[in-house]
Amino acid sequence: MEITWLGHSGVKIQSTKTVYIDPFLTGNPVASITPEEITEADVVLVTHHHSDHLGDAFAICKKTGATLVGIHEIAVDAEAEGITAEGMNIGGTVETKGVKVHMVIALHSAEKGNPAGVVIEMDGKTIYHAGDTCLTYDMKLIGEFFHPDLSFIPIGDRYTMGIQSATKAVEFIQTKKVIPIHYGTFPLVSADPEQFKKNVGDLSEVIILKPGESYSL
Ligand code: NI
Ligand code: MN
Repeated sequence: MEITWLGHSGVKIQSTKTVYIDPFLTGNPVASITPEEITEADVVLVTHHHSDHLGDAFAICKKTGATLVGIHEIAVDAEAEGITAEGMNIGGTVETKGVKVHMVIALHSAEKGNPAGVVIEMDGKTIYHAGDTCLTYDMKLIGEFFHPDLSFIPIGDRYTMGIQSATKAVEFIQTKKVIPIHYGTFPLVSADPEQFKKNVGDLSEVIILKPGESYSL
């Protein structure tokens, strides 16, 4: 399974299926690819209705025929544009094209619907993408219940957790590996991933990627 950070919260998971999460590419100064370069996708996940997460999700679905998975309100909008969508809500699980998606709590805001995190099970791996959120005690439950192999955790502060709270989140989630996201995109979300790695220490393996870089899980 190949994991690629697209910059900001955007992630590509390439295994037997191709999954994109929060593909904010257009208008993203650090995006590693343009939506035009994406020719294949099976599932596109959106954590919440903010432009830096919804991004190019609809355009990618239209171009590739991928199924959009997101909270009910986003799915309704997608369907109105002719996109195949699986609407869901927090606490629910959807399985589409061999990809199992559990929607979990994120504490944040959104223009439509609620913000969420997602736990994905595919090809024997469990991956948690926290979306935009503060540190929540519920993360302990995510760890206990799902045992993520890999987690994507925001560290950029101001709109999400910063390094200190993200470090505590790693302790709660008990994730085997963690990739920091939602930093370095704009001056307002600056954070030093090396400091995060130092803070996490032996709690988990911190994988620092540059936008466009991949990691083999
Ligand atoms: Ni947001
Ligand atoms: Mn955001």
